[in-house]
Amino acid sequence: MQIAPSILTADFTRLGEVLDESIDAGIDWIHLDVMDGNWVINETITFGPAVVRSIRERVGPDVFVDCHLMITNAERTWRQYADAGVDLIIAHVEAIDDPATLISEIRESGTMVGLVLNPDTESNAILPYLPDLDLVLVMSVVPGKGGQSFMPGVENKVREFRVAIDRQISNGGKRTKLMIDGGIKAHNASMVASWGVDVAVIGSGLINDKASIAENIAEIRSQ
Ligand code: DX5
Ligand code: ZN
Repeated sequence: MQIAPSILTADFTRLGEVLDESIDAGIDWIHLDVMDGNWVINETITFGPAVVRSIRERVGPDVFVDCHLMITNAERTWRQYADAGVDLIIAHVEAIDDPATLISEIRESGTMVGLVLNPDTESNAILPYLPDLDLVLVMSVVPGKGGQSFMPGVENKVREFRVAIDRQISNGGKRTKLMIDGGIKAHNASMVASWGVDVAVIGSGLINDKASIAENIAEIRSQ
């Protein structure tokens, strides 16, 4: 299972150093959580396209960068993040009106596209679009902040996507990646890997003041 750091618990004045430290520890995928002060339940703001662009410039072209849009107007503003240099845009299925059109527009721009669903959203909100998606993200917390507790009730949904993606791949379809986000730490990373997750987003379990990023990765990998 690949690990993608969420930078929400980083000291933003030291963001470049945190990114360097992650890459030195072997990380090759960065997950950027964009919140606009409206869509998430706690109405918080994280960062926007200017910071995303600086991050891309800092990490260089070889690190994969995704952008998890927790915003009300993804259908109108996704291009700002594509232009800022992300490889993959992930939009919340609950926050958009016309997933099929958004998927084809993002793909035509040359950027990869994923859909994400909240813990209480059923898999059938995304399954019809699976053949066209580069990634499906299952939220294992209610989006809004780092450091929340993992919701084990998402297991069935993760396994359902694993089965559907494996069937799609064996029928010659797209190799859609399966990602999980929220509350992943050393104690549950191997469990979600056993459910068939390809990429785990890890924020507070990776970027914290208890240990270095390399030490936290080593602990996660050793479980
Ligand atoms: C939640 C975000 C996350 C999350 C990850 O709204 O999408 O990516 O903050 O952080 P941890 O691993 O601390 O739950
Ligand atoms: Zn996220």
